[in-house]
Amino acid sequence: MSESAIITIGGENHQYPVISGTEGEKSVDIRKLRADTGYITFDEGYGNTGSCQSDITFVNGEQGILRHRGIPIEELADKSSFLSTAYLVIYGHLPTKEESDAFRARIAQNAQLHEDFRHHFHGFPRDAHPMAVLGSMLNALGCYHPEMASNNRQQDLDNFDDAAALLISKVRSIAAMTYRMKEGLPFVWPRKDNSYVENFLHMMFSEPYALYEPATEVASALDLFLLLHTDHEQNCSTSTVRMVASGGANLFPSVAAGVSALWGPLHGGANTAVVKMLQNIHLSGDDGSKFIEAAKSGKARLMGFGHRVYKNYDPRAKILGAATEKLLNSLGHADPLLEIAKRLETAALQDTYFIERKLYPNVDFYSGLILKAIGIPVEMFTVMFAMGRLPGWIANWREIATGTIRIHRPRQIYTGPVNQNYIPIKER
Ligand code: ACO
Repeated sequence: MSESAIITIGGENHQYPVISGTEGEKSVDIRKLRADTGYITFDEGYGNTGSCQSDITFVNGEQGILRHRGIPIEELADKSSFLSTAYLVIYGHLPTKEESDAFRARIAQNAQLHEDFRHHFHGFPRDAHPMAVLGSMLNALGCYHPEMASNNRQQDLDNFDDAAALLISKVRSIAAMTYRMKEGLPFVWPRKDNSYVENFLHMMFSEPYALYEPATEVASALDLFLLLHTDHEQNCSTSTVRMVASGGANLFPSVAAGVSALWGPLHGGANTAVVKMLQNIHLSGDDGSKFIEAAKSGKARLMGFGHRVYKNYDPRAKILGAATEKLLNSLGHADPLLEIAKRLETAALQDTYFIERKLYPNVDFYSGLILKAIGIPVEMFTVMFAMGRLPGWIANWREIATGTIRIHRPRQIYTGPVNQNYIPIKER
């Protein structure tokens, strides 16, 4: 007999089916609960709510497991590249040689931005936050490709391959131009002969009079950074993308909404917050121990630590910590912030406050340090996260667009005033 759950309300039993995932995860299917009983479930923050069934990414936070389409993140980090992982996440399988060549060619062809589009950058103040610029620009981009951004689901799906490649390509050009604009530097055009990551670094750091050619270790470190951010199940920004997509919106505004959600310091903005925290600790002369005490007393938050799902080491943090150290060694640089980060990690992992709450380093703990070593300015860190996460958002948009999914519309428990009368202004 298939498993089921019984909910007793007012002495009456109601039976609901149990749905199991391929990794054995179980959920009680309460879709008929309100119709049967008039009750809804209350789960503020959605910690116990499965919002969808998805084939893309599996996370087991207790055991520190992350797999895309069944493949462990450690194996992908070791053997794959960002673009192959992006293909895997979006299309469900690792690309063959032909598929990979076609995908990369599509991305390479799309690097250039329309000349009119370029002028939008001048509409922003120089000190505009790069995440504000990126979100606006991704939305604006759809206006230049109306055939891909029609909000006619079938038409948007017919153009999906082009739209996905275009976004993955152009997000990098937009990111680089945002930085150049901020610095008052001339825009640099992409090169046809560069790899995805090299082209981004070229558009960021080349000058009209001096070509920037990254060291192999630098390009590989950035590729790894992007790969490790490709997707991460139903986090705040991905859920936002799915929510927007569920209303029928095309890919462009859906991923632009993902950028907005990612920006916050409790989500993607944490990579910036971690480096700022480490800089402040360094400047104050603290070896990290005072900061740990402040975090325990609630006066500070140890950014880059803790996770809604991981109650164990985030496997991406492990890979990034080792990669940061490797990159700094190969470049012959020392970063005092890395030493502080390692001390904080060691201290926190031995401290009952962090042990009891199962707080471990998350992906953002070391990601800012690797970006800093690559030469990416701090204000661009969350934009780099968005570049990496874009394939995951695209894959999740596609899952919504190809599924028979109803518009996402949670309910609430209303706690406001009841049945008030309108009071005319002179009586208020
Ligand atoms: N430093 C100190 N204490 C912490 C931290 C932290 N980083 N994270 C959680 N705690 C404490 C909380 O104060 C709470 O303590 P209490 O039980 O005594 O009240 C307990 O641990 C549980 O924390 P919650 O906030 O309930 O955990 P939640 O799952 O809601 O939040 C979050 C997860 C937002 C990631 C949180 O751990 C945090 O703020 N971390 C720092 C920010 C960060 O690194 N964000 C990036 C996450 S990864 C990503 O989005 C890409």
